[in-house]
Amino acid sequence: MRLRVLGTAAGGGLPQWNCACPGCTRARAAGPAVWRTQECLAVSASPGDWYLVNASPDIRAQILATPELSPPPGTRRTPLRGVLLTDGELDHTAGLLALREGAALDLFAPAAVTASLAEDFPLRGLLAPYGAVRWQPLTGGLALGDGRLRVTAIPVSDKRPRYAAGSTRAGPWVVAYRFDDAVTGAAAVYAPSLARWPRGLGAALAGAGCVILDGTFWSEDEMERRTGHGPGARAMGHLPISGPGGTLARLRGRTGVRCLYTHLNNTNPAADPASCERSTLAAALVEVAADGQEIRL
Ligand code: MLT
Ligand code: MN
Ligand code: ZN
Repeated sequence: MRLRVLGTAAGGGLPQWNCACPGCTRARAAGPAVWRTQECLAVSASPGDWYLVNASPDIRAQILATPELSPPPGTRRTPLRGVLLTDGELDHTAGLLALREGAALDLFAPAAVTASLAEDFPLRGLLAPYGAVRWQPLTGGLALGDGRLRVTAIPVSDKRPRYAAGSTRAGPWVVAYRFDDAVTGAAAVYAPSLARWPRGLGAALAGAGCVILDGTFWSEDEMERRTGHGPGARAMGHLPISGPGGTLARLRGRTGVRCLYTHLNNTNPAADPASCERSTLAAALVEVAADGQEIRL
């Protein structure tokens, strides 16, 4: 199985267009080499067949930067077969608008998200005349393409996007995914949005060679401290990395599984490789994913 990490920032990216917090200021000064695009993953178990997890607003640049996702010479055929959404957040769905040039992608999302994308943020109706997306039910377990890539959705939370805050639709609104390669037995878990540590995630990590988790915030009060305002991490639907109940405590001491954080907010000091927060992660043998990074399992 191959993973290509296409983007690793939370909504807004790093730097964010309207932000001069310490992280954005540092990134702006350092230049594009250290910038992070909005979180997105590509996964493949069969050569030439790729699936996106989430469709970020940066998807066009992310695909262009990824040779595996180029069309074969002389064709208008993409190696992309489909898209799996972890949720309906704008930073995970707005990129679908850029994938409308007739590629006929299979799109899988939790039922609440599919319904919300027909009504609250009506992408489904907007994209229908372009024929680009086939909306597929997200069942408990999927076998994609030739059947080699097995996908299991793990319900995470009922955190709704802000545009659907008033919705009474039953969840889950957010899921994580476990990918299994039916041929090699390799497995990976992708959970970029963790409002809580869900029942089932620990079990899903068993036997996985790699886990990529929500690294939006280093600390609970980071938005307030770095930008002067903003709610706490948990109120924004993201367990922080550090502190009691943070995700790092769940990862410490795990052996045999490579652990990485993604979806870093621009306020997260761990986005800076020279930060002491990054040293803390290194000491715990936990990584921060990088845009363009490849992971082979
Ligand atoms: C989130 O990750 O909490 C959302 O993407 C926030 C947003 O709307 O940008
Ligand atoms: Mn987000
Ligand atoms: Zn910022």
